[in-house]
Amino acid sequence: MEVKLDPWGSSQVEDYSKLFEEFGISRFEEILPEIDDPHPYMRRRIIFGHRDYDVVLRAMKERRPFAVMSGFMPSGRAHFGHMMVMNEIIWHQRHGADAFVAIANMEAHAVRGISWQRCRELGINDYILSLIALGFEPTGHIYFQSENYRMRDLAFELAAETNFSEVSAIYGFSGETSIGHMESVMAQGADILHPQLPDYGGPKPVVVPVGSDQDAHMRLTRDLAYRMRKFLVEQREGYISIRGKAAGPDLITAAANALIDAGYRIRQYSEHIDLFDGDNAEKIDEIIREVEVKNGEFGFIPPASIYHRFMTGLTGGKMSSSRPESHIALTEDPEEAANKVMKAITGGRQSLAEQRRYGGEPERCAVYEFLLFHLAEDDSELEELYKECRSGRQMCGSCKKNAAARIREFLREHQSARRDAIHRLKEFGLKP
Ligand code: TRP
Ligand code: SF4
Repeated sequence: MEVKLDPWGSSQVEDYSKLFEEFGISRFEEILPEIDDPHPYMRRRIIFGHRDYDVVLRAMKERRPFAVMSGFMPSGRAHFGHMMVMNEIIWHQRHGADAFVAIANMEAHAVRGISWQRCRELGINDYILSLIALGFEPTGHIYFQSENYRMRDLAFELAAETNFSEVSAIYGFSGETSIGHMESVMAQGADILHPQLPDYGGPKPVVVPVGSDQDAHMRLTRDLAYRMRKFLVEQREGYISIRGKAAGPDLITAAANALIDAGYRIRQYSEHIDLFDGDNAEKIDEIIREVEVKNGEFGFIPPASIYHRFMTGLTGGKMSSSRPESHIALTEDPEEAANKVMKAITGGRQSLAEQRRYGGEPERCAVYEFLLFHLAEDDSELEELYKECRSGRQMCGSCKKNAAARIREFLREHQSARRDAIHRLKEFGLKP
């Protein structure tokens, strides 16, 4: 069997390809050239997919308002997988996004039965301190779901638009599912949409960096965003159709007036408006969206998302917060972390002789993956290691020692930054 030589590749990547076909996630590669200084996760194709990210990129480039939003369920220790989301949030914040981070204590409480007190401790200690230590700035918003009533009011609005058959089809909910669990789903939708409320400047592109396991939430939330629009603006042959899918006569008239004021030639009907000299439907949609917002509606833009690959667990299989041996926590003792790396599964062969002869398999190696994802900043250095490993010149023992030293160093620095972050919590409106 032919093996593709690709330093950024991974044996699990094929598993993701069905996400493209089945669920309509777009390939990140296609928009990568449009990003001037992509994050290493983007460059290394760790971020592999997206929905509507082009809308976010355009806002970023044109310096129009946009936001980044994601959340963490405080049900266990934060590890390097969570750090990926943190870094993606921070990258967008540095590129001009208004940044929002939810600590999903409603979800952890309703779905995992974690006490409020424990959610608070884990939220502050594991997630928020690391987020600040990694560079999150106080211009952004960090909140516990249960304490954010703007979000919770919106969750109620979303719930009013959602029925049981729908969520049971998406999440497999049954008669046994607690209503709190369902509420936490609506809370996640509201987490994602609330950066578009008037309090935060109204409708804007929002990107949600997540693992692909969260895509069901994205599909539901994007659908709800669409459903809450009062108009549907579509390019037709020779004209633009503006259909009032849930707009009463007053709103239709308000929309017609706004278009006339903007200098367009229109024909108004009882439930729709046709526009004949519009340049593009997107611009018209913006005007209509504004009318909706002025009249107390939401006018949401469907949120965008980017998806990253999961890291393999150190012992093989999935990395999971409930199995300590599978991951390295951001609060882990650096020596202990180094030990875990020394014990990790590698892509090495049965014997040194075999390794020299056939070479290692970095694409199946948890140690290589740690370097690729987190510990090797320099692309050419990584490429070099890849070649050395494949050609059988690099042995696993010294390779692991090197990675272990890097992780020890990384954690020492990160944990010292975390200690400094304790004194900065109040800048974020939080108490230790
Ligand atoms: N459900 C997510 C998880 O299990 C956490 C989460 C809550 C979230 N609200 C969100 C993720 C909003 C993205 C956006 O990890
Ligand atoms: Fe992994 Fe390094 Fe061994 Fe190659 S040499 S399989 S990269 S540990």
